Amino acid sequence: MEHLLSAEEITPEVFGEIYQTAQSVKKALREGRKKFSVLRGKCVVNLFFEPSTRTRSSFEKAGKFLSADVINISTSTSSVKKGESLVDTLKNLDMMHPDVIVLRHPCEGAPYTAKPFVRAAIVNAGDGRHQHPTQALLDAATLKEHFGTLEGKRITIVGDIANSRVARSDAILFKKLGAEVFVYGPSTMMPRYPEAMGVKVLKSFDDVCDVSDAVVLLRIQLERLNAKKTFPSIREYAELFGLNRERLKKLRPETVILHPGPFNRGVELTNDVVVSDKTLIFRQVETGLAVRMVVLSLLCNRLERLKEEVK
Ligand code: CP
Repeated sequence: MEHLLSAEEITPEVFGEIYQTAQSVKKALREGRKKFSVLRGKCVVNLFFEPSTRTRSSFEKAGKFLSADVINISTSTSSVKKGESLVDTLKNLDMMHPDVIVLRHPCEGAPYTAKPFVRAAIVNAGDGRHQHPTQALLDAATLKEHFGTLEGKRITIVGDIANSRVARSDAILFKKLGAEVFVYGPSTMMPRYPEAMGVKVLKSFDDVCDVSDAVVLLRIQLERLNAKKTFPSIREYAELFGLNRERLKKLRPETVILHPGPFNRGVELTNDVVVSDKTLIFRQVETGLAVRMVVLSLLCNRLERLKEEVK
């Protein structure tokens, strides 16, 4: 794997390899081991043109745990503020010999634009509405850890599907791993051609409760839409499409709940959901760190070394 730009690139075999190694990494981290020499001499640049808590900090921790040099650049404190373009920013950074550039950008396709201008491996850490492949990896890994397999599982993604790179990435990987994927949300937040995503559209929250082994809740992507045009009010959205105490009771006993974060309490979910024993939301974050340690090692051709070190 030279770059990781889309969930399309992740085969079930690659996922299996990443999952197995991430499980060993997670065990090592839980045992308190926090320093590995796998990426000594390597350099990781985190270049974020959009806000992030989980993705950015976990890539930073991943690089540091693996002994890489890590440079964090956010646009608010970079020369992008002075008008420097994406390509010029990347060409300058490439002269500092990074091995991996982790790029988040509001424009769909930005990592593909970046690729010809750098020698480093690029990880797409989210490009507009398009893709967030490491989120798909960590979501699939969280579900595999819980269920043992995604084969035959019915997973429903609820919320702002049209504007969500998580929905797009998850749907691709979940289906590759044998799951059946459904979506539910306001019709104004549905993709125009859901069949092109290979998903089925559910008509009510009762359907979601009846069908789902797992429910992935999404945040409304207010930064990507004019909220007034897509739903009447936050209160109505919460009533119609949010997961709350009553709906939680209607879910099947074995159903689990995921959310990529950041979540908005009182909108797509209530406090009851956050504290429910059905939620895997914080487990996702822990898995995300391990998965990103594996991805960085893989892109630096050091996967075997990581496997050796975490034994
Ligand atoms: N899930 C996710 O991408 O979260 P952040 O925006 O905080 O990185």
